[in-house]
Amino acid sequence: PTQRSFVLIKPDAVRRGLVGAVLSRFEAKGLSVVALSMRQVTEELADEHYAEHLDRPFYPPLRRFITSGPSVALVLEGDEAIEVVRSLNGATDGRKAAPGTIRGDLSLSNRENLVHGSDSPESAAREIALWFPELG
Ligand code: CMP
Repeated sequence: PTQRSFVLIKPDAVRRGLVGAVLSRFEAKGLSVVALSMRQVTEELADEHYAEHLDRPFYPPLRRFITSGPSVALVLEGDEAIEVVRSLNGATDGRKAAPGTIRGDLSLSNRENLVHGSDSPESAAREIALWFPELG
């Protein structure tokens, strides 16, 4: 079925000049860009987006990172978009992600892993409503 996934191209990708390279992979795969916006993530938005991680030990440095500079938020659409985005992104830890994936090819970090993608249809609906309320 056609799905929408929320994707965040993180501050490390913006700083490294990899926005185009990351976006190209999603477009080349055949996913459509439904919405796209450059955002400076605030601490409040970080806490809402990562609500399920607030109590994790890795959250304070994750919040410092995700608010450290602009990100690019997008909504992608296509057949099985949620799983397709996850597979293009690769495993969370760039050091372990398979070559051929965005993280596997371009990241060497568990935190600064370039990109976030929704992990389920429920997360996608929640994240799209949070980041792009106008799409509701
Ligand atoms: P993301 O897909 O955005 O979801 C949660 C984020 O937390 C993850 O990508 C990483 O950026 C970060 N993260 C997850 N696990 C760890 C960890 N063990 N150490 C540091 N950062 C992590």
